[in-house]
Amino acid sequence: MGNFKDRIGTWKALYTEAFHKVTEALPQVRGVLLAYNTNIDAIKYLDSQDLEDRIERIGREKVLKYSEELPERITRVEHLLGGILWSIRRGKAAELFVESCSVRFYMKMWGWDELRIGGQVGIMANLLGGVYGVPVIAHVPQLSRLQASLFLDGPIYVPKLECGKLKLVHPRKFWRDEENCIHYIYEFPRGFRVFDFEAPRENRFIGSADDYNPNLYIRPEFREAFEEITEKAELAIISGLQALTKENYKEPFVEIGRHLDVLSAKGIPVHLEFAFTPDEAVRRKLVEILGRFTSVGLNEVELASIMEILGEKAISERLLKTEPIDPLIVIDAMNILMDRTGIERIHFHTYGYYLALTSYHGEEVRDALLFASLAAAAKAMKGNITGLKDVRKALAVPTNEKALIFEEKLEREFSEFERGVAKLEDKQLVFVPTKIVVSPKSTVGIGDTISSSAFVGEFALR
Ligand code: AMP
Ligand code: GLC
Repeated sequence: MGNFKDRIGTWKALYTEAFHKVTEALPQVRGVLLAYNTNIDAIKYLDSQDLEDRIERIGREKVLKYSEELPERITRVEHLLGGILWSIRRGKAAELFVESCSVRFYMKMWGWDELRIGGQVGIMANLLGGVYGVPVIAHVPQLSRLQASLFLDGPIYVPKLECGKLKLVHPRKFWRDEENCIHYIYEFPRGFRVFDFEAPRENRFIGSADDYNPNLYIRPEFREAFEEITEKAELAIISGLQALTKENYKEPFVEIGRHLDVLSAKGIPVHLEFAFTPDEAVRRKLVEILGRFTSVGLNEVELASIMEILGEKAISERLLKTEPIDPLIVIDAMNILMDRTGIERIHFHTYGYYLALTSYHGEEVRDALLFASLAAAAKAMKGNITGLKDVRKALAVPTNEKALIFEEKLEREFSEFERGVAKLEDKQLVFVPTKIVVSPKSTVGIGDTISSSAFVGEFALR
């Protein structure tokens, strides 16, 4: 496909076309069911002097210990500050459960700069319902007044049982003040300095002061009226299983299995948003049931962690070794995953490009990925997307030129590879270079934005 300049021009045209096609198709989606995790994200943009002072007050040595190795959960302030430092030193995301009330109070007093809807379900509900106008039914484990106020206007619904009768209402019309599930998000930019450490890239550390989402609490409405709830859905996205542990996963997995039975009996395609799942027993169980989903969304760390479970240690290590990661290694891993589980769609995202391997053909897969990249850039720029105009503005963000070398590589590898689409015998592979925002406002929720936009966008185009 021509020289470098031509390539950029071609992608520019494909991006514009995809934006128009997907935005025109989205209103045709009748309903998306979103389960299970919704919370309040209290976002704090870290200040290095403030953080250094706090670390000194607790004791530098005590804190540094936990920046070498993360504690399992947070029961003391040094765990929290050490965890934040762990993320900064590596430029990596991490999330820990905050068990102690006194640390929860410490975090509350430290404060936040911004409150946003959080959890995969919350983020996707506001994006799909509030921005794209696609009707969504969301599982919100606790609907406090504060949580309800963070939902955008639009076709966003939660189920409510009144005298045994199911009603779908906007979260602000739920009128019950349940508990606040707050996740404190400590964001830092690339180059952020604390003592001698410097963040190699922007990222965040999360402390979840939340007893519901980490245990995958499923509301009575979803237990008692799930079949009726699904009548309004033609697609489903499941997430929030990542914080479970070997001690608490069994019971929720029984209920999830029942939900999957209902969705499958109705022929509703289900996407699993595979967030990083530290507990190996839970990850093993997830991989075991992956074939029951139509689609999965993941990044390089998550794909590597699955390869490990599948006994593919060498490929798992290679996935984590180089940055940017060679797409040929990713494609090998995706093929293994598809062949072993039978899942029909795998959407991989990393910094700079996305790949989708599907067991079916169609250019709409590529167009949906391009649209998702615009949504991701909008999310990186604004933190909170409130209208389609934000997504449209992302058309002006430059396309990652470094990924074009990978595109050339794929052209050499696959004989039939054109404009990002390789038609293989029984599968299709799609590659797109993404938009990259140089100084993002925040990083939390970009992955959810990418996966939900691509999954729903693709089905809308069909
Ligand atoms: P996750 O790690 O699953 O939350 O997903 C993060 C994804 O967001 C990465 O894989 C990138 O594709 C995307 N991303 C991260 N930073 C940026 C940025 N500055 N501009 C555009 N996309 C980004
Ligand atoms: C996890 C966090 C949540 C955050 C979300 C973003 O679910 O618990 O706080 O909003 O990730 O992807």
